Amino acid sequence: GRAERERLRIAIQKSGRLAEPARTLLSACGLDWRVQGDRLFCHGESLPVDLLLVRDDDIPGLIADQVCDLGFVGRNVLAEQDGERRASGQPSAFREWRALGFGACRLALAVPDGWQWTGPGQLAGRRIATSYPVLLREWLAREGVDADVVRLSGSVEIAPRLGQADAVCDLVSSGATLAANQLKPVATVLESEAVLAGPVEPLEGVRGELAGLLLRRLDGALQVRN
Ligand code: PRP
Ligand code: ZN
Ligand code: MG
Repeated sequence: GRAERERLRIAIQKSGRLAEPARTLLSACGLDWRVQGDRLFCHGESLPVDLLLVRDDDIPGLIADQVCDLGFVGRNVLAEQDGERRASGQPSAFREWRALGFGACRLALAVPDGWQWTGPGQLAGRRIATSYPVLLREWLAREGVDADVVRLSGSVEIAPRLGQADAVCDLVSSGATLAANQLKPVATVLESEAVLAGPVEPLEGVRGELAGLLLRRLDGALQVRN
């Protein structure tokens, strides 16, 4: 059974912004892998620590289901999915173990360039497109604003031009995507970066010892960087 697995399993993004820095950081921790045929599972050679290459959205669920022990994922993904669990009455099943200092971005409210921004109250009664409905609803509640949340899984920035929404709430890194869609950021919902995610409770047994070793090396590698 999965509880007796004696190798640690870490999920990272298969491709995308966090993929390469995640592998570089794990290499700095002394890990290396033999890539298997499908390239989705990498067998750890120097330590019994294997890598699983997946979509970043799937990482919290893999930890919740104990398919993986740890994962490198954006705080934004972790926070949204933790909020989803809370909203449906499920207990927390993962948490942030370490901030990793790369992949910095923010989840931001953005409105058309032409708007004269006066504050959150301006969003009252408006439609806001986002892939982060839980985090957006929490922010709206904190600001005391009643708006309609339109859930989209991608291409959120184009929604105002398509007439699907009046504003958006999406990740901003360089700001180029917003600018290309004639939108401007006006408020921050969440400051994000890549994090090491793990279960709520510490791992036990062999995997607990491996995780401890990895954390010590990770903390050393992060200190050298700062
Ligand atoms: C993110 C985000 C924005 C874009 C912002 O998408 O959803 O679309 O990056 O970056 P910028 O401010 O540097 O232009 P990503 O490319 O990570 O793909 P995804 O939306 O499919 O996850
Ligand atoms: Zn081997
Ligand atoms: Mg995007």
